[in-house]
Order: sequence, then C-alpha cells, then structure tokens
Amino acid sequence: MSSLVNWFFRFQKFAVVLGGCYLGLVALLCVPYFQRHMLYLNAVKLPLFANFDSPESYGFAPNKTYNFKIHTPDHETIGAWFMLPESYYQSLPSIPVNVSEHITSALNARPTILFLHGNAATRAFHVRVAQYQALNSRLDANILVIDYRGFADSTGTPSEEGLVLDARAGWDWLVASGAKGEDVLVMGHSLGTGVGSQLAAQFGKEGIQSRGLVLLSPFASIGELLQHYHLFGFIPLIKPLYVIPGAARLVAWALVHKFDSLHSVKDIAGNVLIAHAQNDLEIPDSNSDILFQAFLDPYLPDAPVPTLGKLLSPEEWSSFSEAIDARNTKRTEIVMSTTIPKFGRVDEFTADGRRVVLVKTLVGSHDFVTSQEGLQDIIRKKFGF
Ligand SMILES: *[C@@H]1O[C@H](CO)[C@@H](O)[C@H](O)[C@H]1NC(C)=O
Ligand SMILES: *[C@@H]1O[C@H](CO)[C@@H](O)[C@H](O)[C@H]1NC(C)=O
Repeated sequence: MSSLVNWFFRFQKFAVVLGGCYLGLVALLCVPYFQRHMLYLNAVKLPLFANFDSPESYGFAPNKTYNFKIHTPDHETIGAWFMLPESYYQSLPSIPVNVSEHITSALNARPTILFLHGNAATRAFHVRVAQYQALNSRLDANILVIDYRGFADSTGTPSEEGLVLDARAGWDWLVASGAKGEDVLVMGHSLGTGVGSQLAAQFGKEGIQSRGLVLLSPFASIGELLQHYHLFGFIPLIKPLYVIPGAARLVAWALVHKFDSLHSVKDIAGNVLIAHAQNDLEIPDSNSDILFQAFLDPYLPDAPVPTLGKLLSPEEWSSFSEAIDARNTKRTEIVMSTTIPKFGRVDEFTADGRRVVLVKTLVGSHDFVTSQEGLQDIIRKKFGF
C-alpha cells in the first residue's frame, strides 16, 4: 500500500513538473525573442559547417549549381544557389568552367522555379536537396533557392517583412539576369508558403505576371496553425490553454510574426496549386482546405449565418437549408474532383481566367510531399513546364 501511495506522489510531482514546463513554454512563446527563434529555427544550421561553395558535396553534378550572394534593398546579403536545368546542362559539350556565363541562356531556354524553403536548416539540407534535384531534372527547370536573412550564410535577423524582401530580391535577381516573369513559378514549402503568398499578393497589386504560385504543405496563418499545432505530431500546444480564461487570446495577441496567407488570397492573381499530404502531422491538411475554400468562396452564393440564441421558424429553417444547398450545388458545378487511385485526390476550378488546384496526396508527410512524382507531374502539366 505504502509503495502505491509513493507512486501516486511521484506521479503527482511528475504532472506538476510537466505542467510547469508547458506553461513555461507557452510564456516563452509570448516573448518576441523566443517566438522568433521558435518560429524560424534559423539557429539550427543543418548540415553543420556546410560548404555552400561546393554544391557538389551535396550531390549536385560538377559545376551545375552556382553559389552566390544576392543583395537586398535594405542591405542584407543572402546566400543562394542557382541550378542549370537538366537538359541545358546535358547539352553542354563538357563540364562548364564558369556556370554564371550560362545563366541568361538557361533562363531563356527553360522555365524557372523560385524555391522558398521552410523554417530551420539551410539550402544544403539533404531533405531539401532531394526536392530541388527532382524538380530540376523531372521538370527540367532552372531552380533558384535562397536562404533568408539570418539563415545559413546570409546576414541579418529573420522577420516577416524581411523574408518577403529576400524572396523579392531573389525574383528581382532572376529578372535582372534575363528571366521573363511569365517563366518564373514561385514555390513555397511550409513556412515558405507564408512568404510566397505575400510575394504573390504583391505581384497581384503591382500587376506583375508570374508563371503562378505553388504552396506545398501550407498553413492558413500562424494563428490558425497554433490553434491546431501538435508538438512532435501529437502533443497539442495551445488546446490545453483553453482551460485558462483568456490565455489563448493572450498568445494570439502576442503573435508578432503572423504570416496570414489567408489574408493574401484576395490579392493573388494567376494560377495557384496547393498540395498537402493527408499524413502531414506537423501542419494538418485542413489548412490547405481552408486556403482552397478562400480562393473558391467569391464564386459561391453567400454562406447563410444562423441567428444565435433564437429558434428558427419553419420558414427560416427552409431558407437556411436552401442557401446551404445552393452553395453545395454551385460548388459541385464548378469544382472538378478526380480521385487517382493509390495517389490521392485533385480538386480544381477555373474562374476569371485562372485555375486553382488542390492536390491531396495519400503519403508524403510534411517534408516529402514535393518528392511525390505524381505531384511533380501535376505541377509540370498545370504550369506548362
Ligand atoms: C568548375 O568551375 C570552376 C570555377 O568556378 C573551375 O575552376 C573549374 O575548372 C570547373 N571545373 C571543371 C571540371 O571544369
Ligand atoms: C564568369 O562569367 C561571368 C558572367 O559572364 C563573369 O562576370 C565572370 O567574370 C566570369 N568569371 C570568371 C572567373 O571568368
């Protein structure tokens, strides 16, 4: 009996320590310095001691990838890699002695992907390298990948506006090097989707044409993501806070870096493809549904809003359910859904001359959705690579 009591006290102590750690973590999240580090994880410089000047060390063909620096208008210097497309590289009689001499003709020969990576690690991280290589060879595309300010060998400190400036500087470098905007596809993964959405919204406002926007494993906004975020894929981060009145609101208020892609949707013109693996444990695929729905919403009849705290009369009930039916009917009318056995599902609609596609893959988790050949082929077809 006494040992049982002993165990009970031990367990109680353990629970108190665990609860204290949890509250400590949430409190840290409210401090801008820690919030920045937890969101960007740019201090995690993987691979360790990377030699960016030798892309060959990470598996690239000799002198296929050019390592260089891009200067931003606010005086940061960011590290970048530019990869010659597969067909262009193979057409050369021998290994190029000076890659940068080939950039302009490669940009004219094949379309380009401006790749905006997610948080943590660098452009040399093996999981990422595998993705550029696949896009570079299977889509036969030029690839420009940048490391945002504060990441890898780039100067500065990350911030929401800063990352968007860096992406824009990457775009400007491509255009200055001879790329046509219509040939450049903006592609973001994870945190990079927040950056890409804002860049695309800028283009929408400035009337700049691109090949389109691809959002891989995106989130609707950091606020939305936090509500459903699970540490290590299974420990809910914010949900337990609901037992403390006002605590979840405090965290939302303390959020400095919002990356509200959902808010950018109205300004994004051009073709869009959103892709998410159903088994993504870091960012639930419901985020992609929310984004797709936001693109679709202007083309559906208004959603009925039930009056709270009041019983509906039979007439009100029937007009309410009619409005829902009208919305569903319109949705099935304009959204084309295709199930591809063993791969996933593709939903798409075309309106006002642009196409929005949602791809849900069965596998791929958070980091390997881009590695799905089925998805690469859909991107190739939809964006005319
Ligand atoms: C690769 O490029 C470097 C210059 O960046 C050059 O010195 C070297 O000779 C090139 N390699 C080959 C095999 O041509
Ligand atoms: C490589 O080519 C670029 C662009 O043509 C040129 O500016 C640069 O000086 C060249 N580098 C070498 C080492 O020849």
